Amino acid sequence: MSVTVLVGSQWGDEGKGKIVDILSEKYRIVTRYQGGANAGHTVEIGDKQYILHLIPSGILREGVVCVIGNGVVVDPAALLEEIRILKENGISVDGRLFISHNAHLIMPYHKLLDSISESGNKKIGTTGRGIGPCYIDKFARKGIRIVDLLNKDVLERKIRENLEEKNALLEKVYGQEKLDVDEIINEYLQFDKEIDPYITDVPLYLNNAIAEGKSILLEGAQGAMLDVDYGTYPYVTSSNPTAGGASTGTGIPPTKITSVFGIVKAYTTRVGNGPFPTELTDEEGEKLRKEGAEFGATTGRPRRCGWFDAFLVRYSVMINGVESVAITKLDVLSKFDKIKVCVGYELNGKKVKSFPSDVERLNKVKPIYETLDGWNVDITGCKTYDELPHKTKEYLDFISKEANFKIEIISVGPKRRQTILMNG
Ligand code: GDP
Ligand code: IMO
Ligand code: MG
Repeated sequence: MSVTVLVGSQWGDEGKGKIVDILSEKYRIVTRYQGGANAGHTVEIGDKQYILHLIPSGILREGVVCVIGNGVVVDPAALLEEIRILKENGISVDGRLFISHNAHLIMPYHKLLDSISESGNKKIGTTGRGIGPCYIDKFARKGIRIVDLLNKDVLERKIRENLEEKNALLEKVYGQEKLDVDEIINEYLQFDKEIDPYITDVPLYLNNAIAEGKSILLEGAQGAMLDVDYGTYPYVTSSNPTAGGASTGTGIPPTKITSVFGIVKAYTTRVGNGPFPTELTDEEGEKLRKEGAEFGATTGRPRRCGWFDAFLVRYSVMINGVESVAITKLDVLSKFDKIKVCVGYELNGKKVKSFPSDVERLNKVKPIYETLDGWNVDITGCKTYDELPHKTKEYLDFISKEANFKIEIISVGPKRRQTILMNG
C-alpha cells in the first residue's frame, strides 16, 4: 500500500499529467490537493490529447477513483465543462469523482478581481482563473465552500454578504460596474443541482481507503517554485504545491504519506513573470520552445525556456523530501550539440550558498554553468535505459548527482509508450 505525493519540482508544466497517467495504473485513487483550474495537465492517449484542469489526470484510467481535496479551489463552471468534455469522449465520472465539502468555490468576482489586479503595473502574469482572490477570501474567512451549496439559505446569505463588499470595492476603488447578486445566486443554485452527487466527506473517504490498504496518488498542480511559501514570492501561485500541501489539502495525515515523487523537466520553463536565472532569451531559448512545444496548456501563452537549473532543483528536492523522480521531455534536448546545466549561482562575484529567498537577489544572480556534450540522436523510440545513447546517460547521471535525486522514470515523448521505467 502506498500513499505517494507527486510534485512538480520547477515552475510547473513538468509533465505531471503524463506521469500521473502512467503511475495511476498502479493506484486505486488519484487526488488533487491544491490549486484550481490554473493547472493544465496534458495526457496523450493514442491520437487523443486531454487537458485536465481540475479533475485529477487519473480519470483517464478505467477503475481509478478521483478526488478533489479541500485544498483545491473549485470553479463550478470549469468543472462542469470538464465533466462534459470527458463524457463526450466516452469517459464517465459517475461514481468515480468525489469532491470535498471544504473546498472553496471560485466566484465570478474572483475572476474579475484577478483580471483587475493584473491590469495594473505590478503584474504576476496569473492565469486569470481567480485563484489568488479565492484563496484571499479563504484565509480572510469569507469564502464560500462546496458545503454551502447544500443549504440554499446559507448560500444565498453568503453570496449577498460577499457581494456587498465586492461591489463596493469594484465600484469605489476600481471604478467598475456592480455585479448582479441575483444572477450569481441563480447561477450557483443551478451548479448545486449538478455538483451535489459528487460531494463527499473526503478525509473520511481517504482515511478509510488507506485503512483498507488502497494505494493513493496525490497529484500536485503547479510546481515547488510557484509555492506561496517556498517559491519565488511574490511571483508564485496562492497555494502550497509542495509536498506538505498534500496533507493539509486532503486530510491525509503526514504519518500516512509513504513517499514523495518529483517530476523534473530535463530543462527549465516558466509561464508568467518573475525571476528565472537560466532563462535563454536568444535563439537557443526559441529552439527549446519550438522543440518542446512550450506553450501554456491553460492560457496558450509561450513559455519562457532555459537550461536545467540543478541548484534550484536541489532546493526543491530538499523542501519536498523527493526521493525519486521522473525526468521528462529528455527528447527535446536531442537537437542540441552542447547542453548547459546550472550548478550554482554567483552574486557580486561570490558563490551563493543557498537558494535565495528574495526576488531582488534572485534577479541579480549569475548562473554557474557546466557544459555537457549533446547526443544528437532521436531518442523518442527508446524503450529501455540501455538503448539510450552514452551521452544521454552522462547527462542524466550529471543532473541526478547535482540535484540529488534518483531517476525512476524517463520520458522521451508525450505518449504513454514513450516512457522508460528504470525498474522494468
Ligand atoms: P503538467 O502541467 O506538468 O501536467 O505539464 P503540461 O501538460 O502543462 O505540459 C507538458 C507538455 O509536454 C504536454 O504537452 C505533454 O504532452 C508534453 N510532454 C510530456 N512528457 C513529454 C516528453 O517526455 N517529451 C515531449 N516531447 N513532450 C512531453
Ligand atoms: P500546472 O499544474 C505553470 C503560474 C502563472 C503565474 C503564477 C500565478 O499546469 O503545472 P495563478 O493563476 O496561479 O494565480 O498564477 O503561477 N501558474 C502556472 N505555471 N503551470 C501551472 O500549472 C501554473 N499555474 C499557475 O503563470 O505566473
Ligand atoms: Mg501544465
